[in-house]
Amino acid sequence: VSSLVVAIDGPSGSGKSSTSRGVAGRLGLRYLDTGAMFRAITWWMLAQGVDLTDPEAIAAHADEPQIESGTDPDNPTIRVDGADVSVAIRSDEVNAAVSPVSAVPRVRSRLLELQRQIIGAGGIVVEGRDIGSVVAPDAPVKVYLSADAQARAIRRAAEAGGDVAATQDSLLARDRIDSGRATAPLVLAEGAVHIDTTPYTLDEVIEQVVTLVEALE
Ligand code: C5P
Repeated sequence: VSSLVVAIDGPSGSGKSSTSRGVAGRLGLRYLDTGAMFRAITWWMLAQGVDLTDPEAIAAHADEPQIESGTDPDNPTIRVDGADVSVAIRSDEVNAAVSPVSAVPRVRSRLLELQRQIIGAGGIVVEGRDIGSVVAPDAPVKVYLSADAQARAIRRAAEAGGDVAATQDSLLARDRIDSGRATAPLVLAEGAVHIDTTPYTLDEVIEQVVTLVEALE
């Protein structure tokens, strides 16, 4: 199904990236990590010294960086003005700044346009916070992944290194901003299937999503 769009939303550390990449790999689809795009624009603003406490300053610079997202689920990459920032966008500095930057409507509209260009005619798994609600509301498969906060922190700390308690504080701080913002907050989109991944392995969650896609045919 080349026109297929699989929308995967959920809070930080719910398993969205691993699940989305796994599903795309299983089904031969492309993969788009929209969180990486928000992280990339945030990384660029930090590097430029934009005052991130000032939403107007953020908005004024939102169009400046050139952002290119790779769509290979086996090798997700992101470039800003030609430089590969795939590793740099996972830093603590970006973690702390990304939610306030992502709450600025001008940032969202800029990236929404890029996201829709990449999605194009479909054949893609797209992960984020507002994919099923705003970016691709007509997606035939929409999934909302969640997990206990502690389970999310344990997984994220195991991936990224670092202390579980501090990781949990950082995840919850982002969730509060992402769920509370006025523009495109994290919500359970209409028509989305909610999977609480706490009791499941990654392979089990991938299998559940693949089953939803196969049920379409
Ligand atoms: O998914 P990830 O944790 O990498 O996303 C980083 C941040 O980007 C989120 O905390 C959120 O602030 C923002 N984001 C967003 N909308 C999306 C994807 C990510 O606002 N569709």
